[in-house]
Amino acid sequence: MLRPLTEKRVRDALGTVMNPVTGTDMIASGVVESVSVKDGSVTVILAIDPKTLDAMEVAGKECEVAVSKLAGVKEARIALTAHREGPAKEPSSPRQAVPPPKPPPAKPLAGVNKIVAVASGKGGVGKSTTSVNLVLALAQSGLNVAILDADIYGPSVPKMLGEGARPDFTPDDRIRPVTRHGIKAISMGHLVPEDRATIWRGPMVIGAIQQLLQGVAWDEDGEIDVLVVDLPPGTGDAQLSLVQTVPVDGAVLVSTPQDIALIDARKAYDMFAQMDIPVLGMIENMSQFVCPHCGESTDVFGHGGAVATAKEKGIEVLGEIPLNPAIMQNAEAGTPIVLAGNDNAIAETYRAIARSVMQALAKV
Ligand SMILES: Nc1ncnc2c1ncn2[C@@H]1O[C@H](COP(=O)(O)OP(=O)(O)OP(=O)(O)O)[C@@H](O)[C@H]1O
Ligand SMILES: [Mg+2]
Repeated sequence: MLRPLTEKRVRDALGTVMNPVTGTDMIASGVVESVSVKDGSVTVILAIDPKTLDAMEVAGKECEVAVSKLAGVKEARIALTAHREGPAKEPSSPRQAVPPPKPPPAKPLAGVNKIVAVASGKGGVGKSTTSVNLVLALAQSGLNVAILDADIYGPSVPKMLGEGARPDFTPDDRIRPVTRHGIKAISMGHLVPEDRATIWRGPMVIGAIQQLLQGVAWDEDGEIDVLVVDLPPGTGDAQLSLVQTVPVDGAVLVSTPQDIALIDARKAYDMFAQMDIPVLGMIENMSQFVCPHCGESTDVFGHGGAVATAKEKGIEVLGEIPLNPAIMQNAEAGTPIVLAGNDNAIAETYRAIARSVMQALAKV
């Protein structure tokens, strides 16, 4: 019989990986800040000294391999966060991702006026949550909008918008997107069973993104004013494929205030800069936790880090979204929080961000 996947088994696996900085194992060295296990998805947070980032990134990969080998693990995610004492310094020579090639001239996407990419360097910072709330807020302002989930390996848009409808085909054999809460949506999760998506490899991802862009009947019910693209984390195949296939009008970066997340956000910024895609602004997500009982706010990851980075790069801060369980619960239930009534402060914040995005788009 299969042993259930437990936190203890994950910790045991982490105990087999050596921490190159201390020479002891990962558990004994005390870098494992948290382990969470949910439906086969394992998230391990390692709190490290930013000076050891290079070595610990390698160790993080080893942890990922060790955890992935456990029976029952569908996805293993290792996140590095900085120790809170002292500001994390960026390495003196910023570690750049391999510069992406300049894209060939992209062809406009028929029936779509503007394309906005939502990106981050790091996983799990809330891109998909931000994307669905943003696109719904844009719809509430009267625009005709759509969302494309470009996360081929881990699509989350179908769940966040509420599953049910499936795409079908138009008479001319294009994919007809799903309509949820008045917006159009397409995701690999609508097309392929969840367990299949993970076997996609680089070149297939590129083909899949092209198909999701160009093979979809976006304009069957009229032109789309804004298409929001929820990107997977990082600066990989999906990002390249998007910018090489269609002209992207602007990028919105999402970042938590954690120092290392910010270093990664800078990589994402640099990637868009190299591709001449304007960064419309940055959203600081999970910036504060407001206690639902006493109303006191706590800076969980340190407050204002993303704001400082944005200023340093000369980019606009589009808004700050607090860490609030209702955001997660509403997304999990398929009714993102922006659909809550007018008196919901977080919904209002997303609507203000949507207005800022439109203003920034008008300037580029
Ligand atoms: N402001 C917030 N408050 C509380 N929970 C949040 C907030 N933003 C996101 N979350 C939760 O954090 C988790 C990760 O969010 P999400 O899936 O949007 O991140 P992501 O950046 O798209 O991740 P990935 O890199 O895997 O695509 C989800 O469970 C989501 O509900
Ligand atoms: Mg996502």
